[in-house]
Amino acid sequence: MILSETYKLYNGVEIPKIGFGTWQTKSGKEAYDATTYALQAGYRHIDTAYVYENEQSVGQAILDSKIKREEIFITTKLPADIKTYEGALEYFEKSIKNLGVDYIDLYLIHAPWPWSNVGADYTSGNIEAWKALIKLYNDKRVRSIGVSNFHVKDIEALIQATGFKPMVNQIRYFVGNTQEPITKYCQENDILIEAYSPLATGELLNNELLNKLAKKYNKTIAQICLRYCLEKSTLPLPKSVNKDRIYANTDVDFEISKEDMQYLDNLHHIASTRPFRD
Ligand code: A2P
Repeated sequence: MILSETYKLYNGVEIPKIGFGTWQTKSGKEAYDATTYALQAGYRHIDTAYVYENEQSVGQAILDSKIKREEIFITTKLPADIKTYEGALEYFEKSIKNLGVDYIDLYLIHAPWPWSNVGADYTSGNIEAWKALIKLYNDKRVRSIGVSNFHVKDIEALIQATGFKPMVNQIRYFVGNTQEPITKYCQENDILIEAYSPLATGELLNNELLNKLAKKYNKTIAQICLRYCLEKSTLPLPKSVNKDRIYANTDVDFEISKEDMQYLDNLHHIASTRPFRD
């Protein structure tokens, strides 16, 4: 069953194959309830970020669930505009405090550039932030570290400067937007690709071609999209605040045939493909 299956990061840490996404989930009741439903549904991997402004609500739901801390895999992220060593350490402490935990399972640099300056070169700042994440890893404050929205040259700059390879790269990934150059590079180098917006933030859900395929499998479009990520050895992070959909998004224990995977691989530009750099 998918909820109990894991991928293994290159340092041996196991990470549940589906994570619960909380981007665009409002702090307070919405995030608290959604996280509670997710834990009740059996998700054991929750993905948040400092900038989502919902870490406190997510953390409270985790605490109130009474599920043992070590049974839940928690990811959070360093804000994209923090590009200094000290700043990274400072924001890590803020996230830990917000979440009410004493360690994080996976800590990511949220993006290689601030969102106000997409595509700009922040290589030296990324290296500074990465050194701080390495310190957190060596100090056992985090079980694994990685990046998000990074391209090949952004990752190579980190490795060249520190000799330390990220364990994960979390990117916008869905049917029709598989970001081949960076995905291929990461998979060849044993860096796990996590798929955020695996439903293209909902844009794929009215697609007629996907609808036809979903009917063939007696599944929903969302389930086809999530299964597609898994068939591609990526880790989907579906977001929902709706209890039924949170449960339905775990019902992905089926296989998509080789032919249908090829068909899906050949669908291009069926939803928008931000962020913009290749
Ligand atoms: P909601 O939170 O109201 O369920 P993504 O994971 O790609 O970011 O997509 C999230 C969007 O898709 C949200 O708008 C979410 O709305 C919606 N969504 C999530 N799961 C499903 C589902 N199974 N069926 C329909 N819509 C879904």
